[in-house]
Amino acid sequence: MLWPSRREEEVSMGRHDLSGRAALVTGGARGLGAGLAAALAGAGAAVVVADTREDLGRDTADALKQTGAKAAFVPLDVTDDTSWADAVTATVGELGGLDTVVNTAGLELSGLLADLDPARLRRMLEVNVLGTALGIKHAFRAMRPGGAAGHGGAVVNIASVAAAVGLAGHAATRSAVDRLTRVAALEARQFGYGVRVNCVYPGQAADEIGAGTDIADAVVFLASDAARFVTGAGLPVDDDAAR
Ligand SMILES: NC(=O)c1ccc[n+]([C@@H]2O[C@H](COP(=O)([O-])OP(=O)(O)OC[C@H]3O[C@@H](n4cnc5c(N)ncnc54)[C@H](O)[C@@H]3O)[C@@H](O)[C@H]2O)c1
Repeated sequence: MLWPSRREEEVSMGRHDLSGRAALVTGGARGLGAGLAAALAGAGAAVVVADTREDLGRDTADALKQTGAKAAFVPLDVTDDTSWADAVTATVGELGGLDTVVNTAGLELSGLLADLDPARLRRMLEVNVLGTALGIKHAFRAMRPGGAAGHGGAVVNIASVAAAVGLAGHAATRSAVDRLTRVAALEARQFGYGVRVNCVYPGQAADEIGAGTDIADAVVFLASDAARFVTGAGLPVDDDAAR
């Protein structure tokens, strides 16, 4: 066989180890965010599930605890600066630190420009762009030297291949997350925050079997020390990315 199987590869390379790390996942109550929270916990991280959906979020955190992980739910509206400050304080209190923020919360309200509804686009801009920017802000403030956590870390933003090929308003918000990632990485480096900032672009088929696992693997890698020289990067996880 030319390539080792996935299992053999994991054994020979070792899985990325996040033991002792603390992670906050926005939009972690369900869907892709819940999957990412489980993957980070599976790699050994303590995880806060941060979401507006308290009911679902508590269930998701409880399910992680049942696997033996350290986990908690923290309420968070990513569009609200004060909510972010409170969530980071609660996370550091619950987990004893903060090393990784994964910005997954997002809305996809696609449509043609010819049919543009300003209210829908404003809402997408708020959650996808402002929400991610505030996530980066509060990760920087907590993780940089002198911050509440203070040991540096990693931010992983979830965008979408729609940044390149999606429909109108949604694509614009995803392109903004892509650009935010790169300028954030530059700011962190320039000002010595010790925080890496990267972006993953799931394909349109993120719900298909296998794709979700690959997205989770990408996020765990970017959060880990295996990526300690990787910042300002964008990684498509999409078997149709070459189009
Ligand atoms: N699932 C896919 O196929 C796919 C593909 C490409 C990109 N993405 C992107 O990944 C992200 C998650 O996708 P999903 O399919 O899991 O979505 P989803 O709608 O199933 O889950 C989104 C989560 O974000 C939370 N959320 C929404 N607004 C919030 C806010 N203001 N503050 C905090 N939490 C908030 C929701 O409560 C929910 O738990 C989205 O940004 C989506 O565009 C998903």
